[in-house]
Amino acid sequence: MHFHDRLFEPLSLGDKLTLRNRLVMAPMTTVSGNPDGSFSDEEIAYLERRASSGIGLVMTPACYVHKSGHSFERQVGCHSDDMLPRLSRCADAINRQGAASFLQIHHGGNAARSEYSGRPPMAPSAVMNRRGTSEMPAAMTEDEIWMIIESFAAAAGRANKAGFTGVEIHGANTYLFQQFFSPFTNKRTDKWGGDLRCDRCDRHQEHDRLELCHRLENRARFALEVVKAVRGEVGPDYPVAYRVSPEEPDPDGYSTHDAIQLLSLLLPLGIDIVHVSSWQYGVGLRYDWHSGTHPTKMISDAMPDDIPVIGVGSILTPGDALRVRDDGVELVSLGRALLLDADWVTKSREGRGNEIRTAIHSEEERQRLDIPPPMREYTKRSIQIAPVA
Ligand SMILES: Cc1cc2nc3c(=O)[nH]c(=O)nc-3n(C[C@H](O)[C@H](O)[C@H](O)COP(=O)(O)O)c2cc1C
Repeated sequence: MHFHDRLFEPLSLGDKLTLRNRLVMAPMTTVSGNPDGSFSDEEIAYLERRASSGIGLVMTPACYVHKSGHSFERQVGCHSDDMLPRLSRCADAINRQGAASFLQIHHGGNAARSEYSGRPPMAPSAVMNRRGTSEMPAAMTEDEIWMIIESFAAAAGRANKAGFTGVEIHGANTYLFQQFFSPFTNKRTDKWGGDLRCDRCDRHQEHDRLELCHRLENRARFALEVVKAVRGEVGPDYPVAYRVSPEEPDPDGYSTHDAIQLLSLLLPLGIDIVHVSSWQYGVGLRYDWHSGTHPTKMISDAMPDDIPVIGVGSILTPGDALRVRDDGVELVSLGRALLLDADWVTKSREGRGNEIRTAIHSEEERQRLDIPPPMREYTKRSIQIAPVA
């Protein structure tokens, strides 16, 4: 097979969807929504510009499903029908470039900020984030949990109505889903929580691979109910992706083995694609004696053949992307690489990988890249790309 075919061959999800190639634009918040949470012209132009270079699938930035989950300055929302006109405009802009468009649906949990949401954050338990930098959240009541589950379903319905090809449920990066699944942030003793240890094993890492820990099912319940509700809303044929962080560095945190168990519970409820979140593809955060390999490959190996997996994390060159495919991972997602070079896909397809830009040197370059003005500031402050020779 030709060098490039593995990145540029199409991928079909049964009859649901055909992607024109294996490249995905990673969801990246551009802090450029309109003040009411709707997609701004700048944000849409940014996404369309990247879709136009021939990418297979564009994930939108994380979009809050309920105001209580609003986590970043000028984050986009899909929390009300008022958002529909601009959601449609965004979906159209991506779709008309021939890319599939997925709306990423999100709730920040303890990462939500009261200055944006207008209320203290809520989370499974009153536990701050790992770094202690979040506000102290209030533990969610049963009613609040169901309200947020329903908000996810309603948001997925809006994505469908607006013309997005699919949705991605943001289950990763320490936000609400992960807060429920992680023993570090979920201290509940009701049916939405429970210790990782179970009656049948001393340590969760030693639990038999094929045996399901019933306590794990409690911590997975929020994700299970959301997937069920989303599927109920959009019907059986609408593509739904689930993004997961494969492991946690905390000693109390979950392992890749646990994440695989979570996914094995979610898949039968109607997940079509699994997106394994990572900053550095191929690198594990914590010791996991089950693995002997890296988390994305472990997950990819554990998934059934008809569930494609997306790998991500510091993929800067076509060679990096091919290494993901060499692991048997079906799709490759690019975040910062596409921010820095909107023509990454074209250059890669045409064998001009050596022309791919991996740094922004001037304001003028930023402007040529259609990076929304608030994002330009943000890129200066906090984006770090590994130096590339
Ligand atoms: C500025 C910025 C914003 C991000 N926003 C999101 C987001 O909205 N949703 C999400 O799931 N991940 C988000 N991420 C994580 C990326 O999707 C991706 O996993 C990460 O950047 C690693 O990939 P990369 O090295 O190709 O950038 C963000 C990352 C950055 C740098």
